[in-house]
Amino acid sequence: MRTSENKLTAIEEKLAIEGGNPARTKPLPLEFPGVHYMDEDEVKAAGRVLTAHSPFRHYGINLQREAETFESEFASFLGVNHALAVTSGTAALHTALTAFGVGPGQEVIVPAYMWVSVIAAVVNLGAIPVLADIDETFCLNPAAVERAITPRTAGIIVVHMSGAPANIVELLKIARQKGLFLLEDCAQCAGGSVQDKKVGTFGDIGIFSFQMNKNMTCGEGGALVTNDSRLYQRAFACHDTGYARDTNGRAIFDDLDLCLWARGYRIDEMRAAILRVQLKKLPRTIAHMHSSKYRIRKALELYPEVRLRKIIDPAGDTGCFLISTYHDPDTAQRVSQALRAEGIVTSSEGVNNVVMTDWGLHIYYNITSLVNKTSADKKGFPWHLSENAHSKASYAKGACPVADSLFERSILLAIPSCLTEEDEQEIIHAFRKVLDRPVDTLKALPIL
Ligand SMILES: Cc1ncc(COP(=O)(O)O)c(C=O)c1O
Repeated sequence: MRTSENKLTAIEEKLAIEGGNPARTKPLPLEFPGVHYMDEDEVKAAGRVLTAHSPFRHYGINLQREAETFESEFASFLGVNHALAVTSGTAALHTALTAFGVGPGQEVIVPAYMWVSVIAAVVNLGAIPVLADIDETFCLNPAAVERAITPRTAGIIVVHMSGAPANIVELLKIARQKGLFLLEDCAQCAGGSVQDKKVGTFGDIGIFSFQMNKNMTCGEGGALVTNDSRLYQRAFACHDTGYARDTNGRAIFDDLDLCLWARGYRIDEMRAAILRVQLKKLPRTIAHMHSSKYRIRKALELYPEVRLRKIIDPAGDTGCFLISTYHDPDTAQRVSQALRAEGIVTSSEGVNNVVMTDWGLHIYYNITSLVNKTSADKKGFPWHLSENAHSKASYAKGACPVADSLFERSILLAIPSCLTEEDEQEIIHAFRKVLDRPVDTLKALPIL
């Protein structure tokens, strides 16, 4: 999108969307970061558990203690006192909020850009999610959080979205000043950091997902980390049978604050064994995505009309997504379509190169059950509970205007962890072909 006066290296090639040759002819690799690094090591780890006939974490014929070992390795990787492995990121969110004691009559602040599980965890406990707008970090705007606080606010869930950390230092200050809990959702940012401190270790609890799209994976899995022993014990209790355990592994019955209700979110030994291998590979997985992303970002920096997501600390960005923002929604659509025609797409299992409004249940107004305040029961839980009568939150499009505008004008590009230099060059070439065109010409392209 250059005018003829400021063209630097304009590419005069015919765009693929106009019938020219595409920049790439094969689909991009799928965006499953940890999966690309799976090999014999993970096979051996899973096999070790099966050979020992001991797939359960608490006892077995020849218990390998994979879950326990993974937890201590993960805690030391992050620099935190406690880690608890669970069955999913959703389970970790639910467990964390239970540890905080969230329930009816409370509000929890959540960002406009997140994943549906964040909202589900709040609603399932009978509390009310209150949206706060994002800023150009695509994560919570601290000022919007301050505005969303009411006497009923119990805490804040900050989500480090799309691979890069939120403005966690500012958000932590607000939480501390107002006496609110801070839960960090690091599902999309495992291994990310701010000023060399890992995400998940700033707030009271950090949660992670190890589902297949994440930086490290065992297919499905999650974890919760904290420095607070009491929160850890409460989390342990509810993720297991409802009871915490003492250092000898015996259930604690004489402390009623630790006598909770079972959720059955225990990890199994096989997944834990795989996660131990994936954790060792995490720095390499991230380094690959980071270098691909910043090579592409650098090429895009030459285009002043393209705004790139504000990154709080580039060194701590895990690199799994690149977000570029355009002047208006129409331009974003056309750039995305023209890039798709240039071959910047994955096969049908992938969702690469989408305008963010199409990014499903990450966008608050795409979550039908939230917009319509649906309930699993017939009485309208939790929306119609008398304890929640004062919480009148609205979730329809328009509730978070900055997010609304960013979603419509931004394109999300996943950065697979196995891009070759040739792949990177082809992506850059495709962007340049499209962006070197004057805006008006681009606008005239047909939308496919
Ligand atoms: C930000 C965020 N939080 C939570 C989750 C839930 O994780 P899981 O799919 O493991 O339940 C996800 C998963 O995509 C996520 O992206």
